[in-house]
Amino acid sequence: MRFDFTGKTIIVTGATRGIGKQIADDLAELKANLILTGTNPDEIDMLNRSAITNSTSKKYHCVNFSENESLLEFIDELKKTDRVHGLINNAGINRLNYIDETLIEDWNDMISVNLSAPFQLIRCVSEKMKKQSYGRIVNVASIFSKISKERRSVYSATKFGIHGLTVGVSNDLARHNILVNTLSPGFVLTDLTRKNLSEKEQLEMAQMIPARRLAVTRDISNVAIFLMSDLNQYLTGQNIVVDGGFTNI
Ligand SMILES: NC(=O)c1ccc[n+]([C@@H]2O[C@H](COP(=O)([O-])OP(=O)(O)OC[C@H]3O[C@@H](n4cnc5c(N)ncnc54)[C@H](OP(=O)(O)O)[C@@H]3O)[C@@H](O)[C@H]2O)c1
Repeated sequence: MRFDFTGKTIIVTGATRGIGKQIADDLAELKANLILTGTNPDEIDMLNRSAITNSTSKKYHCVNFSENESLLEFIDELKKTDRVHGLINNAGINRLNYIDETLIEDWNDMISVNLSAPFQLIRCVSEKMKKQSYGRIVNVASIFSKISKERRSVYSATKFGIHGLTVGVSNDLARHNILVNTLSPGFVLTDLTRKNLSEKEQLEMAQMIPARRLAVTRDISNVAIFLMSDLNQYLTGQNIVVDGGFTNI
């Protein structure tokens, strides 16, 4: 069976870079109508112009999840959309720090972007999904939704939290044929990883992973595509860890 998202409208947050961009590009190739977000207005303009030039069904919105006003404006836009079949809560931030050095601003921002925005978006789209008796929701967490490491207490709190949200929401929505799962990547080569791990640390990390390499964004996107697709009919409320075996050692 080939994946085909013709006629499906899917939201991917944080789709300007890294994992979210890969998922959006792959879904576009599979003919989905895409509602995408990023935070930089100039980049959003440029991406929307290029989507028109290349005739892809991508519409980018400029949304900053650290600012509730900005999120609410986006939600108002979504309310005008006829049908939404899928939501991928991918946007995320990770500011590393020891607990006693963590600023309340960093706590608030990480909670807003990684946890509150997904909650508000799920609440908005689930209403539409219930009416159409169909929906697929993927919350992108991290291996730090299952384990943790120094300087990742707040990040882990948000990622453990989002999986809790997945489990709870999946219980509420399964009877409406809305399947909700967490997708937890290990170490993926993106800007976020390059910011937090030096090249030397990345090489050392690769040696600690049973698959002996960091993930590329396609490794994560492939699983997201399955979770969003009609091939998935019965998998819900699970935390799918895509980490080359790292959390098993
Ligand atoms: N990379 C990894 O190794 C890894 C591992 C496990 C889990 N994850 C998770 O996977 C997801 C994507 O990570 P990534 O590595 O692809 O990240 P990334 O390359 O840093 O991209 C992050 C995306 O989120 C958007 N974003 C950042 N701050 C935002 C805000 N305040 N409001 C709304 N959107 C915002 C960014 O938009 P702009 O481009 O406009 O800044 C960008 O599109 C995150 O949830 C992350 O926690 C990543």
